[in-house]
Amino acid sequence: MERTKRLEASKSNEGHFRMLIDAITDYAIYMLDPDGTITSWNPGASRLKGYEESEIIGENFSRFYTEEDRKAELPQRALAVAEREGRFEHEGWRVRKDGSKFWALAVIDPIRDNAGRLVGFAKITRDLTERRRAEASLRESQEQFRLLVQGVTDYAIFMLSREGCVSSWNLGAQRIKGYAPDEIIGRHFSRFYTAEDRQAGRPEEALKVAAKEGRVEREGWRVRKDGTQFFAHVIIDAIYSPDGSLLGFAKITRDITERRNAARALEEVRESLLQAQKMEAIGHLTGGIAHDFNNLLMAVQGSLELLQRRLPGHDPKVARLIDNAIQGARRGAALTQRMLAFARRQELRLAPLDVRDVVQQMTSLLQSSLGPLVRLETDFPPLLPSVIADATQLELALLNLAINGRDAMPKGGTITIGATERTGVPGLKAGTYLCVSVTDTGSGMDEETLRHAMEPFFTTKGVGKGTGLGLPMVHGMAEQSGGKLLLKSKLGKGTSAELYLPVALHGAALPADGAEAHVLSPSNKKLAILAVDDDPLVALNTSALLEELGHTVYSAPSALHALDILRREKKIDLMITDQLMPGMTGSELAARIRAENADIPIILATGFAELAPGEGEGLPRLAKPFGQRELAEAIARVVRA
Ligand SMILES: Nc1ncnc2c1ncn2[C@@H]1O[C@H](COP(=O)(O)OP(=O)(O)OP(=O)(O)O)[C@@H](O)[C@H]1O
Ligand SMILES: [Mg+2]
Repeated sequence: MERTKRLEASKSNEGHFRMLIDAITDYAIYMLDPDGTITSWNPGASRLKGYEESEIIGENFSRFYTEEDRKAELPQRALAVAEREGRFEHEGWRVRKDGSKFWALAVIDPIRDNAGRLVGFAKITRDLTERRRAEASLRESQEQFRLLVQGVTDYAIFMLSREGCVSSWNLGAQRIKGYAPDEIIGRHFSRFYTAEDRQAGRPEEALKVAAKEGRVEREGWRVRKDGTQFFAHVIIDAIYSPDGSLLGFAKITRDITERRNAARALEEVRESLLQAQKMEAIGHLTGGIAHDFNNLLMAVQGSLELLQRRLPGHDPKVARLIDNAIQGARRGAALTQRMLAFARRQELRLAPLDVRDVVQQMTSLLQSSLGPLVRLETDFPPLLPSVIADATQLELALLNLAINGRDAMPKGGTITIGATERTGVPGLKAGTYLCVSVTDTGSGMDEETLRHAMEPFFTTKGVGKGTGLGLPMVHGMAEQSGGKLLLKSKLGKGTSAELYLPVALHGAALPADGAEAHVLSPSNKKLAILAVDDDPLVALNTSALLEELGHTVYSAPSALHALDILRREKKIDLMITDQLMPGMTGSELAARIRAENADIPIILATGFAELAPGEGEGLPRLAKPFGQRELAEAIARVVRA
């Protein structure tokens, strides 16, 4: 009876409320009496729970709970809490009429009459199944994402607060930077930067740009926990809340040291290969030109010398002109010598040398070349191994290097010549080398100049002042001797030229200097000389020079001709032969003659290192281009007692 009365009342007294509640379909809104019996029902409740109003009114609300909840007396407790505390709110599974479940948010409010007595409860239930599912899947994907970020080891991925303090830390960050999460979380990220970068305000600047533009990308050196550095690629993204305020930053850092090193190494290799190819090409060209020039200059020089002597009458003006021409030809010859040295095609007389002796012997020459403003110092260790080199060429090289030093110190300074023993020199065959260094306190070179300094014809000294062949000559000589030239220089900090030369091994066989091999009659004897050369210009010149010296000359344009003449003319005292000839070379010709048991002295004229190792060994040499004096000296050497 009570129940129907209440229902009546609700229908009539609160008519418009009833209409409102009936219009709501998203919420189940119904009333319970104090012991939980359902006394009203709205369409939302029907929709949610599946019961019609007529079948559910009068039933206890506990039937909406699951078996377990009912056993745990959750429905009774819910009402008790609502009564005691004025409200009960709970999320949990509820059961529909058809037995299916939905996730419900239920709110229970107690209803009291004017006297404060409990008359029942208002219950509002919402179906949160969808929301719960969405939340669960969001949580799941967030968790997956967190695991993903956490598990990435190739990238340091971490978050920064607005101020730049680390607020999360993944495995990659730990691996790359070396900090465990508890060592770094809460610390400012500027500690990953180098001291200079920090001083320059780089960390703050990066955050500022990221906050303003949404993102920054940078590359640079970063510091690990242990103080070592790595080259990093860094992206910082600003994170904003939906209302647009800055929450913090996401930072992704990658260690690209290796990639950078690999790229650089590749670049270096490519550059040095290019450089080597260029030097090789220039070497061929220079060597070829120098070779031809050598022969031409020989003809010019020889003919001029003859002309000088045969000049009818004595006109000092003409004599001076010829003198000038001879000087010019000599200077040209000296230049071709440098070019040949660069092209590694000069004749080296390799022998064990004490570098200290070489320097000592040339001290006065050095001092006079360097002038009064330059102080010359030496720095040799007490025990200095001998090197294998050509004494004259080494002297020339040291002079060249010292003069470069002088030129770099117009206001004066110090040049130090020193030497240290080195093993395992990069770029050279395994073994021991002596590093002979010429160090100045001069202007030094910028990177660009240093890169090109050893190229032939590269000079910064202006037209007519430098030939740009000084360093190439030293470089060529060093390489031909089995060593190398290394330049070290910084702008404003002076230059050190390091000349690596192989150390002479004790008891090692030395290239023989066969000048004394065949000794003939005393000097000044008029000799019958066989001159062999395929170049008619040179042949003519040599013959003329020899005849001038009073000798009888047999000229042969080839090795075969020479053999022919030798077989016919038994009285020939001496043979001078060119090395590089088509058909048979000079040294091959010499070997043939020796094989035929003739021990006639043979002089080998070579313009450059045309000799393979072992070739022409024991034969006295005559360096092209030669003038009459060199020719006479060479002959004197083999005919001297
Ligand atoms: N000790 C040095 N200090 C500064 N720059 C140097 C030094 N040695 C060489 N250089 C630079 O390298 C360039 C080439 O040197 P190199 O000896 O080959 O030719 P050069 O000195 O210019 O001419 P040359 O040697 O024929 O007089 C020089 O012009 C100079 O710019
Ligand atoms: Mg020079």
